[in-house]
Amino acid sequence: MIWVVGASGMLGQELSAVLKTKGLDAVGTDRDIDFRKADAVAAFTHGKDIQWVVNCAAYTAVDKAEDEPELAHSLNVDGPAVLARWCAANKANLIHISTDYVFSGEGNSPYREDDHPAPTGVYGVTKEAGEQAVRGALEQHIILRTAWLYGQYGPNFVATMLRLMREKPEFGVVNDQWGAPTWAFDLSQVIAHLIQTNASAWGTYHASGEGQVTWFGFTQEIYREAKDLGLLTSTPVIKPLTTAQYPTKAKRPAWSVLSKAKLKSVYGLTFPQWKDSLARYLHLIKG
Ligand SMILES: NC(=O)c1ccc[n+]([C@@H]2O[C@H](COP(=O)([O-])OP(=O)(O)OC[C@H]3O[C@@H](n4cnc5c(N)ncnc54)[C@H](OP(=O)(O)O)[C@@H]3O)[C@@H](O)[C@H]2O)c1
Repeated sequence: MIWVVGASGMLGQELSAVLKTKGLDAVGTDRDIDFRKADAVAAFTHGKDIQWVVNCAAYTAVDKAEDEPELAHSLNVDGPAVLARWCAANKANLIHISTDYVFSGEGNSPYREDDHPAPTGVYGVTKEAGEQAVRGALEQHIILRTAWLYGQYGPNFVATMLRLMREKPEFGVVNDQWGAPTWAFDLSQVIAHLIQTNASAWGTYHASGEGQVTWFGFTQEIYREAKDLGLLTSTPVIKPLTTAQYPTKAKRPAWSVLSKAKLKSVYGLTFPQWKDSLARYLHLIKG
């Protein structure tokens, strides 16, 4: 049995749907079982034959984390540590989801898994410490660092841009931060494949959409595709901004592109080009 932790979140819902489609035996929990509490985890798992735990739960509000470092730490470090210890004691495997925010964002070539982590804000610091907690407690783990996640089950950049395009005659989007949009469906397919093939090359892997773009470029493509599909009737003016023109409480990485070479060479897994996934996603939500 697979236990999806954080099953009501954007990735957790998508993954639960994918596992169901594939006929895999899975159970999901969210705030109903507080994964930071070892006794709650023990009570929930009692009598269940859990072989894989997938941790999609996290504190994900990047700016708010600056004001709530203890809460972010408890969800992003203490929770994963509890899950890793439970897995170690019960001979289960853990897939733990992490982020591009573990890096400084100052590079200019795709980050490799063994590049030095240097997070700049509370969210990134706690996610990096969460990775270390998992590594320290459990050998049978796979940490998947993803980035720029969007999907049909939660608030996300694509949904926000579509709303702004409908509501505003003009708006600006940052054009000097680079990354790779990742459809939660594609990431869920990778997770399901790892489980179905009984993955056992433990360690840290990068798992995000293929290619690279700025938030502004991403928005332009959302606009173009949405217009083509008839999802939009408005014609807003979308302006490129610099990071300085769009200040945020937590610093955003200027460079967030992750190399997927390791995932490909070890597991033969690849992600689609981000533009292809975006087109499929918009087609799907068009209905
Ligand atoms: N979204 C992105 O762009 C992005 C990018 C890179 C990496 N990631 C990583 O990808 C993973 C999934 O992200 P996501 O966007 O799907 O996150 P999400 O939508 O915020 O989902 C996280 C889930 O965890 C739940 N949760 C909070 N506290 C809990 C607790 N004490 N016990 C159990 N569950 C609890 C949340 O519930 P509430 O909603 O009620 O708080 C939510 O359902 C995270 O590890 C995140 O760091 C995300």
